Amino acid sequence: MSLLHRKSLAELTAEAERGLLRRSLGPLALTALGIGSVIGTGIFVLTGTAASQHAGPALVLSMILSAVACALAGLCYAEFAAMVPVAGSAYTYAYATVGEIFAWVIGWDLVLEYALATATVAVGWSGYFVSLARDVGIPFPAALTAPPGTIVPDGMGGTAVALFNAPAALIVVAVAALLIRGVQQSARVNTALVLLKCTVLVVFIGVGIGYVQRANLTPFIPANTGAFGEFGWSGVLRGAGVMFFAYIGFDSVSTAAQEAKNPQRDMPLGMLGSLAICTVLYIGVAIVLTGIVPYSKLNVADPLAVGIDATGVRWLSPFIKISALFGLFSTMLVNMLGQTRIFYSMSRDALLPSLFARVHPTFRTPHISTSLTACVVALVAGLTPINKLGELTSIGTLLAFTLVSLGVIVLRRTAPDVPRPFRTPWVPWVPLGAAATCVLQMVSLPLETWARLFAWLALGFVVYFAYSRQRAAGARRMQRTEGPPHNP
Ligand code: ALA
Repeated sequence: MSLLHRKSLAELTAEAERGLLRRSLGPLALTALGIGSVIGTGIFVLTGTAASQHAGPALVLSMILSAVACALAGLCYAEFAAMVPVAGSAYTYAYATVGEIFAWVIGWDLVLEYALATATVAVGWSGYFVSLARDVGIPFPAALTAPPGTIVPDGMGGTAVALFNAPAALIVVAVAALLIRGVQQSARVNTALVLLKCTVLVVFIGVGIGYVQRANLTPFIPANTGAFGEFGWSGVLRGAGVMFFAYIGFDSVSTAAQEAKNPQRDMPLGMLGSLAICTVLYIGVAIVLTGIVPYSKLNVADPLAVGIDATGVRWLSPFIKISALFGLFSTMLVNMLGQTRIFYSMSRDALLPSLFARVHPTFRTPHISTSLTACVVALVAGLTPINKLGELTSIGTLLAFTLVSLGVIVLRRTAPDVPRPFRTPWVPWVPLGAAATCVLQMVSLPLETWARLFAWLALGFVVYFAYSRQRAAGARRMQRTEGPPHNP
C-alpha cells in the first residue's frame, strides 16, 4: 500500500551518494552546529519568563527536567542518525522504518520546529536590536517593531500601534542570503558565533556566582498561587515546558548528515555533545540568574543583562546584549539550514515540488528552497507575537521527539539485524522515558497551542492526500521503468 511505502536503507544510502551536497563538516563543526542551533532566545529571553511567571528559583529544576527529556530523546535520535545518515532527520528515519504517511506527518510537523523556531528567534533578535538601537541613540519607527495591533512605546513618552516587525523580517532575509552562499562559509561563521555565545554564558556564570545571595533563592519553590503552572510543582512543570524551547536544536545536527564527512561516528557525537555542553551552561545560568536578582524582577526581554545590572558589574551588560544579537543570528542560521535540508529530502522523494531539491550550480546549496522558506518565515516573524511562536515550536518539536523515540522501539523489533553504529541503551526504557517526559511537557502547554498543532497537522493531511501521495507514487513508477535519476 502506497501510504506505508518504505525506503530501504540501501536505497537511502545510494541516494545520499548521488546527492550534490558537499561533505565538508567534521565532528567539531557538527557539535558547533548543534550548539549554534540550541543557544538562543530560550536562554537569552525565556529564562526570565519561566522564572518570574512559573518556577521562581526552581528554574533550575525546570531546566533539569527538560534536559532529561532531551537527553533521553537525544539517545534515540543518535541511534537513527548513525543508522540512517542521510539528510532529512526524523523525516528520513520514518520513511526508512514505518512508511510514507508517517514520514510525511513528521516532515510536516518538523516545519513547526525549524521554520517556526527561526521565526521565534528572529522576533527575539528584533527585541534586542531595537533596544540596542535606542541605547546608542538611533531611533527606530515604533510602528515597525512589533506584530500588528501591539501597543508599543513610541520612544517619546507616548504609545503607538505596531504594524509589522520589520527587523525580525529583515534578519531572516540576511540569514537566507548567507545560507545560499554555501554551507561551509555558514558553518565557519556559525563556529565563530558559537564561541562567542558560550563565552558570554561562561563569563555570566563566572562573574555572577560571586554575587549570589541566599535570600534570592528562598523559598526555592515559591507557593502555588492557586492556578496551574503559577509556581509550586505545577509551575516547575510549566517552566520545563517553556524552557524546552531553549534546548531545541541539538537534533538539527542530524539534518546535515549528508554534509558530514563521517556521519556514522560524528552524528551521535555532534548531537549528544552539543546537548551536554548546553545543559551544563544552562544549569549554571539558571542558578546564578535566580541567585543574583529576585525572580519577580525577571519578566523582561533581556533577563541576563538585568541580572548583571543587579550585581553592579555594568560593563558586562552591553557585552551580553551585543553577544545575544550575534548569538541569535547563529541560532537562526542553523534552524533555517535544517528546514531547507528537510524540504530537500521531501522533494527528492517527490512529496514536495522538485524546485525544493534544486541545487545552485556554483554554491551547491538549495537556493530556491532557501529563498522561498525565507519569504514565508520573514512574513510570519513580522506578523506574530513571540510567545505564540515559541509555544507552537515547542509542541511541534515535542511531538517529533515522541515519535522518534517510539520509532526506536518499533525498529528494534521490525529490523533487528540492521547495523547500528550507535545503540540507544536500555531499550525500551530509555525511549519510553523520552516519550513520557515529552508528553508530560506537551500537556503543560496551553490548549490553544494544541488546537494550532491539530490545525497544522490537518492541513498537512489535506496536502498529502490532494497532492503529495499521487506525485510520490508516480515518481516511483517512473523510477521503476527508467531507473534512478542522476540528479535530484
Ligand atoms: N533553542 C533555540 C533557542 O533557544 C531554538 O533559541
